[in-house]
Amino acid sequence: MPRIVYIDVNGERHECNVANGVSLMEGAIQNGIAGILAICGGSCACSTCHAYIDPAWTDKVGAPSPIEESTLELAYDRKPNSRLTCQVQVSDALDGLVVHVAQNDA
Ligand code: FES
Repeated sequence: MPRIVYIDVNGERHECNVANGVSLMEGAIQNGIAGILAICGGSCACSTCHAYIDPAWTDKVGAPSPIEESTLELAYDRKPNSRLTCQVQVSDALDGLVVHVAQNDA
């Protein structure tokens, strides 16, 4: 099972085992990661699952889809490495991924 490192909104580091095929958002919710609200439940409509992909991982994670891009426009403090975690599926290729949770209650 891939290991995902979440840096929560308070700066605390959590190393979590997340099943293949589960989204980064679902993995965060399952592990009680502070700052991932996911109000829309993962339908790419709210931006409250916003996080920053660690720069060392952005190529492997890839770019957002056009639909994700439009929802990301709603996100507070969007950066070039911003992603909506409900739109990133966990896989063995992402073992060790570091994700920094954004401020999602602003
Ligand atoms: S959970 Fe709403 S956009 Fe990801």
